[in-house]
Amino acid sequence: MIRMGMIGCGSMADRHISALAPLQGRMRFTAFADIELPRAQRLASSVAGAVAAENYRDIFDHVDAIIIALPHDLHHQVGMDCLRAGKHVLMEKPLALTEAQCLELIAADRSPEPVLMLGYVMRHHPLWKQMGEYIRQRTYGEAFHVSIWTEQYTDASQGAWIGQAKRLGGGQLFSHGCHYIDLLLDWLGDPVCGTHIGTRLGTPWMEREGTSNVSLKFKSGATAYHFGTWGARGSRLGYAAHAHCTEGMLELDHAEGTITLHRDKSGGDLPALEALAFKGEAPKDINKVVVYRCSGADKRRKAVVQQIEAFLDCIEKKMKPDISAQASLRSLQVIWKLYEAEEGMVVADLR
Ligand SMILES: NC(=O)c1ccc[n+]([C@@H]2O[C@H](COP(=O)([O-])OP(=O)(O)OC[C@H]3O[C@@H](n4cnc5c(N)ncnc54)[C@H](O)[C@@H]3O)[C@@H](O)[C@H]2O)c1
Repeated sequence: MIRMGMIGCGSMADRHISALAPLQGRMRFTAFADIELPRAQRLASSVAGAVAAENYRDIFDHVDAIIIALPHDLHHQVGMDCLRAGKHVLMEKPLALTEAQCLELIAADRSPEPVLMLGYVMRHHPLWKQMGEYIRQRTYGEAFHVSIWTEQYTDASQGAWIGQAKRLGGGQLFSHGCHYIDLLLDWLGDPVCGTHIGTRLGTPWMEREGTSNVSLKFKSGATAYHFGTWGARGSRLGYAAHAHCTEGMLELDHAEGTITLHRDKSGGDLPALEALAFKGEAPKDINKVVVYRCSGADKRRKAVVQQIEAFLDCIEKKMKPDISAQASLRSLQVIWKLYEAEEGMVVADLR
């Protein structure tokens, strides 16, 4: 039974606690730390026998593994301290604020003893994982363009750290867009060039961009687009992705939990859409059919569970994590180059 600790008992911690009940046979929370002690105490009081501390170093004796869910400017120092104490670490994304800090954490990484894994939860989301498999395996031909939209309202007007560029490490792109840059690189391979254009208009609480537009071109020739905003006062797309492939367009609808194949050009000898329907689905019209449906009411909860399962697998079976510190650096380097090019009003060379 792995004794799990949590450093940073804010909104992310709450999500972990409520989602992780199914893993009770493999792990239990034994300690919580937060500089605002009542937050740690609140979580500790919900788990029998768990302790609460104001100083995160005080939980080291009570845990084997630690989830770090802190403001980004604390990831480097706290991560180094946890690794030096020999604790397995699941670090919420992003790894750290600068390349130098990331390289120090990578140099200190002795995975799998102890494991250092990055929390890119969308990589574990069943719907987004399936989309990636379709693209990588060319199930519907070659993907030549992918677009991703994330539209949400995240208000930091009360002075929260996420509005502060120095604590966040940038703006919406660095903090939330990083999930989708990571996915695009995982789906489409190495990027060669790209641009970022962001704005604070509409999100005055953000010191840097609250709305972000990224265009990328990959070695394969494929292009991609990512639009993310924290200023959406309403949304139709919510979180969505489209992949234009040579045998049709895949539409991921996050809220519905579906991937729909659209094909309205003659496919020659391609299978009829009916033959591609997910179990129990019938084509909605002659041009589209649901090819995947993510069952279960709370898909996000499932992704959090699967992420922690992957972390526990690495600890128990002494495996290196797929989403290692080193692997996570690649998408951050892309983001830093995009930011740099934006300042210089040029296209970023990402080769
Ligand atoms: N994967 C996701 O989808 C997702 C979603 C939201 C947040 N996150 C990540 O989770 C992390 C935390 O974000 P959040 O939204 O929970 O932030 P939050 O502000 O809600 O919580 C951060 C907590 O850290 C505590 N804290 C600050 N300084 C501390 C210190 N020195 N020692 C101990 N505790 C300290 C704060 O008091 C607060 O309770 C970030 O890395 C963020 O990017 C991930």
